[in-house]
Amino acid sequence: LTGSRLTTGLDQHSAEYAQHGLEIEADLRQRCPVSWSSNHGGFWAIASHSTLSQTLRDRDLCSSRKEFDENGARGGLMIPSNTGYRMVPDETDPPEWQDYRAILNPPFAPPAIPKLEPKIQAITSEVINAVIERGTVDLVRGIASPVTAITTLEILDLPFEDWKFYAETIHKTPYDGRNPVVKAGVAAIYAKIRRTVSERKVSPGNGLIDYLIRARVGGEPFPDNIIGDMIYQLLVGGFDTTGALLANAFWYLDDHRDEHKRLITDEKFLQTATEEFLRWGSPVIALGRTAKVEMELQGQRIEAGERMWMMYRSANHDPEVFENPEQVDLSRFPNRHVGFGMGIHRCPGSKLARAVFRAVVRQVLARMPDFAIDREESRRYPALPTVNGFITLPARFTPGPTVDSGFASGLPL
Ligand code: HEM
Repeated sequence: LTGSRLTTGLDQHSAEYAQHGLEIEADLRQRCPVSWSSNHGGFWAIASHSTLSQTLRDRDLCSSRKEFDENGARGGLMIPSNTGYRMVPDETDPPEWQDYRAILNPPFAPPAIPKLEPKIQAITSEVINAVIERGTVDLVRGIASPVTAITTLEILDLPFEDWKFYAETIHKTPYDGRNPVVKAGVAAIYAKIRRTVSERKVSPGNGLIDYLIRARVGGEPFPDNIIGDMIYQLLVGGFDTTGALLANAFWYLDDHRDEHKRLITDEKFLQTATEEFLRWGSPVIALGRTAKVEMELQGQRIEAGERMWMMYRSANHDPEVFENPEQVDLSRFPNRHVGFGMGIHRCPGSKLARAVFRAVVRQVLARMPDFAIDREESRRYPALPTVNGFITLPARFTPGPTVDSGFASGLPL
């Protein structure tokens, strides 16, 4: 620690952070819950639950807004800012943000989820049907990825056969987003979304895309680029974070077989377990903000315009709030985790994510009860700046029968 600013060498993009992130976060929380790092253009790391909550609850303190100019991008959720696209609504501020959330909340609100559940069940059944007779599966590429991707495409009303086109790029953006191949993949997704929006204006479908096209704010439709940015955010939100939640849960359950039966038979236990996996695994590790005003946090003076790194996983492992935070307690209650964020940008997809998570966990545990992960061959994301995911989780299990999923013609898996 040096100078008047508590300064550390925190580098969230480093291999060291990917390997020892929990220890690094524990050290920050203990020694300097608000600290400065000069890496990546300089940013404040906000590591404790109380400071993170206090800062994000007040919508006037921080900005999520991303802007583009001749030098590239400024602000937004990534540090350093990423160019090429903008997440809407996540990289916007009120009052603009308000218009987007007002439109996005209803389709993800609690009453909408029970209507989606039979479809989520059917997609999960069909995805497992495709592998159940084989006895081997990659729990990421063979289960978590297709279920989350196809469910999102179902909600948007986009063709299922494109799920790999979207998923292959989207799963790489969190850890390899600066790779030109991944950037070209994002550009191709945007081009496809733009084409689809134009087509759907002429021949409307029945999904969330069409709902966004029909939406009016003050009598005006959203511009096409905003609709595209919203669809991209929904694809990312729907695919990668829920996939990471499932992958972390499988990793844990592989090693804790005594808890499987209760997860399928005791709905309350499955509910508390879902929250505990969100806390412990923290699919979204951290995201950026920009200070809107000068503020003092934990004795550190933050200047307006400086970047801030909101460390959700660190907050979720804060011993001030969670007893034995490193211990997974699937009955933990209450569980004030910030796995879905905090403040105005808190995740609107949380109910959907929980529904997908439970459907997949129930069916995997019921239909492949002896699944065993090859831990040597499993691979986590090599860098963990934002999403705590796995690239692959190969597993074996005793083959079983297919079930009637309700899909007459199957899925393009
Ligand atoms: C386990 C799964 C998920 C996790 C852990 C998660 C996590 C988060 C977090 C932490 C935020 C807040 C970002 C911030 O601080 O700026 C967020 C925002 C958001 N999430 Fe999720 N999410 C999940 C699933 C989903 C799903 C399934 C959808 C929709 C298909 C979704 C759509 C969104 C959107 C649109 C926002 C932006 C909200 C805003 O800016 O007001 N997420 N999510």
